[in-house]
Amino acid sequence: MTLHACDIAWEAGGQPIVRGVTLRVPEGRLLGLVGPNGSGKSSLLRLLAGLRRGSDGAVLLDHRPMSAVPRREVARRLAFVEQQVSTEVVLTAREVVALGRTPHRGAWEAWSEADHAAVSAALARTGMADRADQLWSTLSGGERQRIQIARALAQEPRELLLDEPTNHLDIRHQLDLLKLLQSLDTSCIAALHDLNHAVAFCDEIAVVKDGTLVIQGRPADVMTVDLIRSVFEVAATVREDPENGRVRLDFLPD
Ligand SMILES: Nc1ncnc2c1ncn2[C@@H]1O[C@H](COP(=O)(O)OP(=O)(O)O)[C@@H](O)[C@H]1O
Ligand SMILES: [Mg+2]
Repeated sequence: MTLHACDIAWEAGGQPIVRGVTLRVPEGRLLGLVGPNGSGKSSLLRLLAGLRRGSDGAVLLDHRPMSAVPRREVARRLAFVEQQVSTEVVLTAREVVALGRTPHRGAWEAWSEADHAAVSAALARTGMADRADQLWSTLSGGERQRIQIARALAQEPRELLLDEPTNHLDIRHQLDLLKLLQSLDTSCIAALHDLNHAVAFCDEIAVVKDGTLVIQGRPADVMTVDLIRSVFEVAATVREDPENGRVRLDFLPD
């Protein structure tokens, strides 16, 4: 177990936003974080990334409180792809991806073979190698998103957190990204909106509503008609493929 939230809480403007959430990101697996708009997914990811200190509870990295882990170690091993990224920078796509190597290098250290290899591999894995020399500001929304993911991969993290990483991507790139996340040895947690993508690609799913964790478990165990109705307030049918145990959801108009 690498990343673990233990009864964490966070408040903003006097309102509880994350309330007593306990969840674990299974080692080397993909955990999908789903829940309605405003349920606290982004807030929870920021807590797990150590960007925010909770008002209660703890985030543990390998059983150590994150607050006790040296910042440089956190910066090396944990990567976070946030939803909104600044578009002001005057850097090429490759230079943005290269930022992912910063925590691995000393201030005056020259670029190593390993640094170059990690950047090239990340550009290739996200299908962005042919755009590497284009200015970041001139990329499309989907291309920027893929470059942010490439930056996180170049960091070679042990834990990877992603907030709605399929936003802006066309359907092929959405599926390519989910397959890529599934194939990594990294422990991944990704907030996802498409419930069918979540059940098809994630090893486990964590469902949040009103800042609390409703359930975490295997997709087929978690995604029931009753859960979908109570959390997302829609009617659905759930079919399980007897061959691979994967479930498929269909949403029904009221
Ligand atoms: N800094 C903040 N100040 C006040 N309210 C916030 C702040 N951040 C988030 N919230 C509120 O917390 C709730 C959860 O937000 P968020 O974590 O972004 O949800 P999600 O990512 O699931 O859509 C929302 O109602 C949002 O308005
Ligand atoms: Mg969000």
